[in-house]
Amino acid sequence: MSVNRLPPYLAIPVALLAFWPVGARADAGDVERGRYLVEALTACDNCHTPRGADRYDYSKRFAGGAQTFSDKTYVVRGPNISPDQETGVGAWTDEELRDAIVDGVGRAGRLAPVMPSDSYKALTARDLNAIIAFLRSAAPVGAPLQAPQQRSGEWAPHPMPGAAAAFGEAWLADKDVRGLYVASLARCMSCHSEEIDGAPEYRNGLGAGGKIFRNAAGAVVASNITSHATNGVGAWSDEELKRAITQGLARGGSSLRPPMSTLSKAHFSKMSSEDLDALIAWMRRIPPKE
Ligand code: HEC
Ligand code: HEC
Repeated sequence: MSVNRLPPYLAIPVALLAFWPVGARADAGDVERGRYLVEALTACDNCHTPRGADRYDYSKRFAGGAQTFSDKTYVVRGPNISPDQETGVGAWTDEELRDAIVDGVGRAGRLAPVMPSDSYKALTARDLNAIIAFLRSAAPVGAPLQAPQQRSGEWAPHPMPGAAAAFGEAWLADKDVRGLYVASLARCMSCHSEEIDGAPEYRNGLGAGGKIFRNAAGAVVASNITSHATNGVGAWSDEELKRAITQGLARGGSSLRPPMSTLSKAHFSKMSSEDLDALIAWMRRIPPKE
């Protein structure tokens, strides 16, 4: 049936719909909120955007990461998540993207745990939609998945206690809850907690450090960031903590090493003061560990 044969009382709403702003759709994600989340907290670029000499190559944003991640059960690289129809996720539905981002399930089944879905489970429905809207707003870049890509494991989820399921939007008004939310999305504790058999031990080792990262800077050990006065950061001032998080500087002012310095400069430097204050208040309450 063509529009001009509709009865007059139907023709008006149809005409209105044609001009309905896309942003007014109930589930339409807020692109700027998505940009903030991705750039300041979730750091998707870290594994999904190629790098130039010392920074991300934004001309190929989300076209796939440079690093290869390997473990006993997988060898993977961050795939193309730009909106390219053929080689990216342009043809994926919002539902498929949600499954990948918070449940760690891709089109071909479970994703290797390098994709940190456990840290993103806390995303509010609004924030998850905002991230998807931001991904969709990026330029499509054609770049096929780079080999090697192998998975042969079953991986149990390890979300942080209290952050295993979507938060309600209204909860974020509470500073304590916001601090936990920021810590989860920014993956602070997945790097800074003790590990047993390759999995974070949040119950007794939250923030205790010890995990080793091997990169160009050598073997870098994640620091104890519990409230312990001497082994942790209990004696640090708020300003010293902020400087470490947003500028990648140690307490004495020397430069921290990657991956902390990279994340600080490229991402955490963009954290809003509200999120940063909430994060620090939350960190101060992590029980001290030797
Ligand atoms: C620490 C590295 C890392 C970060 C940070 C990261 N990812 Fe991933 N992601 C991966 C890896 C590696 C894979 C592929 C895993 C596999 O093949 O099993 C992946 C897979 C995906 C997939 C599935 C794509 C496909 O073709 O199968 C999507 C979608 C995705 N990530 C989106 C995101 C978004 C959005 C963010 C930020 C909110 C993000 N990722 C942050 C490493 C990361
Ligand atoms: C990808 C892993 C990773 C993530 C994510 C991460 N860190 Fe770090 N962080 C490290 C490593 C490794 C070091 C040690 C760097 C060094 O010794 O040069 C470090 C150092 C630090 C330090 C300095 C401590 C000291 O004693 O010098 C602080 C504070 C810190 N991180 C807080 C955080 C917070 C808060 C977050 C989340 C917003 C976070 N980190 C996210 C790996 C990480």
